[in-house]
Amino acid sequence: MRNENTSNTQNPLNHLSIRHLDLFLVTIYSPFKSLIKGGTLKHNAFELERWQSVHEHHVELNLTESGVNPLLVSELLDLAGQEQNFLNQTHLEYSPAHGSDELREKIAALYPDTSEASVVVTTGGAEANYSASMHLMEPGVPVAVMLPNYMQVPGIVENFGARTLPFYLVRKDGWQPDLNQLKDCLDKGAKLILVTNPNNPTGSILTENSVSEILNLAEQYGAWILADEVYRGAELSGPETPSFWGKTERVIVTNSMSKAYGMPGLRLGWTLSSSEYVESIWSRKDYTTITPNPLSDALACLALDAETRPKVLRRTKNILNNNFEILRSWLDSQNDRFSYLPPGAGAMCYARYNTPINSIAFAEFVRTEKSLLIAPGDHFGVDGYLRLGYGIPADRLEMALGRLKEAFDDVDGRIQAGHPD
Ligand SMILES: Cc1ncc(COP(=O)(O)O)c(C=O)c1O
Repeated sequence: MRNENTSNTQNPLNHLSIRHLDLFLVTIYSPFKSLIKGGTLKHNAFELERWQSVHEHHVELNLTESGVNPLLVSELLDLAGQEQNFLNQTHLEYSPAHGSDELREKIAALYPDTSEASVVVTTGGAEANYSASMHLMEPGVPVAVMLPNYMQVPGIVENFGARTLPFYLVRKDGWQPDLNQLKDCLDKGAKLILVTNPNNPTGSILTENSVSEILNLAEQYGAWILADEVYRGAELSGPETPSFWGKTERVIVTNSMSKAYGMPGLRLGWTLSSSEYVESIWSRKDYTTITPNPLSDALACLALDAETRPKVLRRTKNILNNNFEILRSWLDSQNDRFSYLPPGAGAMCYARYNTPINSIAFAEFVRTEKSLLIAPGDHFGVDGYLRLGYGIPADRLEMALGRLKEAFDDVDGRIQAGHPD
């Protein structure tokens, strides 16, 4: 869609697409004027990421991570059978803008019948989601979002000025989506459906039936699907979660090295879709990150090598399974304080707690009193839960859980004594 309603054809900005949002909002589209405060666009913070980035390096223990303990570079080089000086040969240059050919080929090989022409390498799953959202959103058109969820895309949509319409994962159904709610969102005009599969924060995996019903509804209403699949490959057991890629023409898939591969510091992700989308993402990157970091590109090539990848994923699964046993036995020993469903994937468990306190207030108490960071359910769109990340080294996990028990005991004690403050 072009910016056709400007009359001044001399204006050099006229060739810009309507999706060049900032200019569009500021100069033309008056219904969005309410979003512009003091000369800048409305900007609601991404609460979870703010909470983590402000505090995670200033607490003794951190249970907010949803991935496994990250690898050392030397561990990756060992798993890949490479010399420890491997990176010495890497030029610190601008690497190819949408990722090296080698890396895009390796990513394409993870999906059936896919060539590297469908792949754009991004700075983490975060840039992949951001670019995909900017490509897919339309002014005034609502977006159907699965909740609870990692709130990046919902936040982007709302900052853009569009409405999000929730459809919920239902705990008694094994955290499967309420498809009537999804249909309702589509009836209300949603043209984009956000699915996060495996899900963050529940760690649940969509059943075959849920996937096919989502696809049927998307097809019926001509809606796009944005499938955030960063936890694929981080299943505790069973096969890798099938991708939405290739299941409909109107799909954009995002993924990254951060969770299943345990390499969030690479800041390396990717997105897949049609050639038109690849072009659009690439042109957006020209304004933001320009190219991937060549060191990250080189290390991701190593990790996604057909022989090395299974070793990296096995390391992840070992950590997940060993540590979940620690978390499970701790949760079960807490006298009905928690109810939870074991996660299917990811180093996170979304536990409902029965202490009558708001999740953000409790997380703040735990941070200040116990120097322990936890992720409150409110940051995923549902209060009364905590997302407990269990991917850290086992001894630290045990220590953190001990402090969490103390914090709950303190708060329960105060409430019973009539001092909820
Ligand atoms: C569902 C989901 N998508 C995307 C991201 C961002 O991933 P990355 O670290 O690769 O940018 C996260 C991070 O927690 C996530 O949970």
